[in-house]
Amino acid sequence: MASRIKLLVLDTPEAVAQHVAGQFVSLVRDRPGAVLGLATGSTPERSYAEIVRLSKAERVSFAGVHAFNLDEYHGIACEHPQSYRTYMNRHLFDHLDVRPWNTYVLNGAAADVDAECASFEAKIKACGGIDLWLLGIGTNGHVAFNEPGSPADSRTRKVALAESTLASNADGRFFKTPAEVPPHALTAGVGTVLDARRLLLVAIGAKKAEIVAKAVKGPKTPDVPASLLQDHADCTFVLDKAAAERI
Ligand code: PGA
Repeated sequence: MASRIKLLVLDTPEAVAQHVAGQFVSLVRDRPGAVLGLATGSTPERSYAEIVRLSKAERVSFAGVHAFNLDEYHGIACEHPQSYRTYMNRHLFDHLDVRPWNTYVLNGAAADVDAECASFEAKIKACGGIDLWLLGIGTNGHVAFNEPGSPADSRTRKVALAESTLASNADGRFFKTPAEVPPHALTAGVGTVLDARRLLLVAIGAKKAEIVAKAVKGPKTPDVPASLLQDHADCTFVLDKAAAERI
């Protein structure tokens, strides 16, 4: 099957963030009990700031929302300054009226990792599945922490991070050296992501251009996990011009 990925190319990172925020805020306005999927990393930061601004401006309440995050580092506590729980609270949850107990970020410090991953999948099911999942893409093609080699039917599990991921998360934005980055993570699987009713993958900047082109029009292969999104019935890549320049 040919790629079903839809493309939306916008002039600037700000326009990308405004589009993403518009999608999330209008979903929650229309469906106050929406089930959201969220992501971390540098790319969504602008989108989260814009969701906070827009939801306040338009008086859209997130009090009925459930939110699930893609992944979390293994072996660090929720309170760790670089945990994805801390990131989500800082960039989004603390600024919305979403109920903290309805926000699910995998617990990287769980004693029983398999039980933690199974319970994450069960909670998504119990909420009726994800309506809209925001995704980023790694320069190696990962989606969440599904590194190259992750199959389309993978589910939430513990994984080893690729060298390239350790390096890009140690460039001073999050950690200072690769040795500081936890080497393992808990991540929703490619299959977990593909189960969402709608996907929005966001990429910004020239350094994502090559991998975005591979994901959109290259062969569908676990070597580029984002290419496995090509089969999804409602997946849009929202790109700035720089990220789209190699398509
Ligand atoms: P970034 O990460 O937004 O920090 O580039 C994206 C990702 O690795 O999924």
